[in-house]
Formats: sequence, structure tokens, C-alpha cells
Amino acid sequence: PLVSMTEMLKKANAEGYAVGQFNLNNLEFTQAILQAAEEEKSPVILGVSEGAARYMGGFKTVVKMVEGLLEDYNVTVPVAIHLDHGSSFDKCKAAIDAGFTSVMIDASHDPFEQNVETTKKVVEYAHSKGVSVEAELGTVGGQEDDVIAEGVIYADVNECKELVERTGIDCLAPALGSVHGPYKGEPNLGFKEMDEINKVAGVPLVLHGGTGIPTADITKSISFGTAKINVNTENQIASAKAVRETLAAKPEEYDPRKYLGPARDAIKATVIGKMREFGSSQKA
Ligand code: G3H
Ligand code: ZN
Repeated sequence: PLVSMTEMLKKANAEGYAVGQFNLNNLEFTQAILQAAEEEKSPVILGVSEGAARYMGGFKTVVKMVEGLLEDYNVTVPVAIHLDHGSSFDKCKAAIDAGFTSVMIDASHDPFEQNVETTKKVVEYAHSKGVSVEAELGTVGGQEDDVIAEGVIYADVNECKELVERTGIDCLAPALGSVHGPYKGEPNLGFKEMDEINKVAGVPLVLHGGTGIPTADITKSISFGTAKINVNTENQIASAKAVRETLAAKPEEYDPRKYLGPARDAIKATVIGKMREFGSSQKA
């Protein structure tokens, strides 16, 4: 069933695992992620960036596609449809009105007081509809769609505490050195800060830029309160590789099902691997 992230993440925190947010790009991504979740008996968060929603048609198309698959696949595990890096109150509201069960308001690039104000407004609207809210502090490096970082700024511990207290958000993404897209070398996450933030935040933490983070760091993050890990690029790479290999082996192929089917299988295998790594398998 479609649910918000709130209960999912509380349970994950309490039981010491993380729920994956896997980003949608098209029908095949959605199929693959839902198939993986149902097979693994894992809760799952479907991440939808504004750019990806635009590509697929809009928020309503995304919601109806997901609802259709939940019925056709007889999905029994908890599923959240989550706006990833929502850029404004209006975008968050539009996603909620279309049926999203969760939103992220990313006002991390704004001055702190403005971030608090925008986030608070989103929480008021979202909570009145039973929708969960994630907010961000600091900057995640790299680039994802419209979200481009110029430098990596670590989230401030006191601001994290204050943001949660003043807005009532359900989970917090403190940027601590993670990067959207592939890492240049090994990631260097601020675990000392994560530990401190976890002790004062009082809500589950979110780790963005999940692609390319070694298992040891995933385990550490979970031990410091991380209950949600976002993965997009790794599935995109797996999907593109499958398409390239299929078309290289059969250059005359033109039926999209013949090359997008293997892409879907590759995404599914990648998602299953992440669910096992994050410990969410068999937790639905
Ligand atoms: O918001 C989505 C993510 O943080 C995904 O990051 O593409 O590096 O896996 P990634
Ligand atoms: Zn992100």
C-alpha cells in the first residue's frame, strides 16, 4: 500500500537498518523497483525529482503509474512516493495534491531563517494531508538534475537541532560530504558530525548520494541514525550498461521491449543488492 515515510523510518531506526529511496526515471525503473521490493519483502521509497516528473509527464502521471503497478503487481509491502529535492512550497503542494505521500523541501541553499520558514510552511500543509516531510541542511556535492552544488558545506549541528524543533519535519538530510553522481575517489563522510547530529536531531537521518558508498560506510551511517539512503546513479548506470550490451550484441534490434527489458532486470538486480546491503529485506 501507499504510505508516508514516517512509520517506515521510525521502524528502520528502531531496528537498525535503512530504507532505500530509489529514483524513478520511467516505467521500467518503477517496475524494477516495485518488483525488487515485493520479492525482498522490503519497504521502499520511490524518489521522484522535479526533472524526472517533468520527463514522465507530471506528478499525476507518476502517481497513476505507481498506483496501477501496485494493483497489477499485487504489491503488499509499504511504498512511499516521495518528491526528491522539492524546490519550493508550490512544487511540494502540487506533488501532494497529485497524491504523493511524502515530499522533500530542499531550501538548503537559502539562508537558515528562510529554510526554516519555507520548510515550516511545507510541513503544515503536508501534515494536514498525512504526508511526511524531509528537509536538508548543508550542501550535497555533485549534480542531480536541477540541483547543482558549487561546493560541499557540512550541515551545522545546532542548526539541525533548531530546524527539527521549529518545523516538525519527519526526517533530516544533513549534508556531510556525500555527492550526487559517482564519487571522485573514496567518499569521505563526516561521521563525527553525523553522530553529533543524530544525538540532538530527534528524527531519522537521510543520506543522499548513495551511489558508490562502501558497505562499511553504509553500516556506520545506519549506526549513527541514518534510516533512509538515496540511490539513483547506480541504477542509471546498470540500466545504460544493459541497453549498450544488448544493442551491441544485436545491432539490428529495434523493439524497445528487447533492450528495455534487460535494463529493467539490471535495475531490479541492483535494487535487490542495495536492499540486502541496507538491511531492509524481509522487514516489510
Ligand atoms: O536525491 C537522490 C540521491 O541523493 C541520489 O544520489 O545519484 O548519487 O545515487 P546518487
Ligand atoms: Zn539527493
